[in-house]
Amino acid sequence: MTVSRQPVIVLSKHVMFSDPLEIRIRPSNDADVDPMLSIYRHHIRRGVDPAYQGGAEALQPDDLKRRRRSMRKHRLPHLVAERGGVVIGYAYAVLFRKRPAYRFTVKHSIYVHPDHLHSGVGKLLLPALIDTCAAAGYRQMIGYIEAANTPSIQLHERCGFRQVGYLPSVGYKFGHWTDIVMVQRSLGAGATTAPDAWLVPPTDDGLDD
Ligand SMILES: CC(C)(COP(=O)(O)OP(=O)(O)OC[C@H]1O[C@@H](n2cnc3c(N)ncnc32)[C@H](O)[C@@H]1OP(=O)(O)O)[C@@H](O)C(=O)NCCC(=O)NCCS
Repeated sequence: MTVSRQPVIVLSKHVMFSDPLEIRIRPSNDADVDPMLSIYRHHIRRGVDPAYQGGAEALQPDDLKRRRRSMRKHRLPHLVAERGGVVIGYAYAVLFRKRPAYRFTVKHSIYVHPDHLHSGVGKLLLPALIDTCAAAGYRQMIGYIEAANTPSIQLHERCGFRQVGYLPSVGYKFGHWTDIVMVQRSLGAGATTAPDAWLVPPTDDGLDD
């Protein structure tokens, strides 16, 4: 899947050059695990109270590889954004809850490389994730965002999410309690029609975020 920020330049019938700054969105593969982990660890380290030990290092490359394989089996997308062959962001969706009643609802995460923040990566990556989840038959998509995370709240608003809940004081870091905003959007026909088919049934194998 290619989501181009700028059009590909066609010079002749047989020769195509693409803009080296073009952001490309594609499914992740095992070779992307290290750059994805380094993006994840950067954000987790920044977001976690230094008094708490272990958070950023807890997720290991093999965990991420196992999770990717399991997600593929469940038609759950795990996407990366790359520019010039370098992974600069990633996003994925997992089942909202494992109980069968919730099999048409996903929750998602998105992370952009610290050197590429606010340069349009999220605006390409999140819509691609939405489209992929919709194409797989999912009907609702949910995000949990820290209330102080203005960039993420604004990105989600731009991508059609609306606030559906507010969880006060559920986090504690840097000496104070933090709140979570719940956002949601429908996918495809949403709740206007019954789902077409039973999607792959959930299992316990690594679908947690
Ligand atoms: C949230 C995040 C994914 C946004 O990705 P991004 O690539 O930086 O966002 P984009 O450049 O595509 O910007 C999309 C919109 O988000 C908002 N936004 C992005 N950065 C912003 C900032 N620093 N301040 C305010 N709004 C911002 C804007 O509305 C922007 O649209 P605009 O540029 O047309 O005004 C990114 O900041 C990130 O990875 N943050 C750390 C991890 C994280 O918080 N993940 C989300 C957890 S819920």
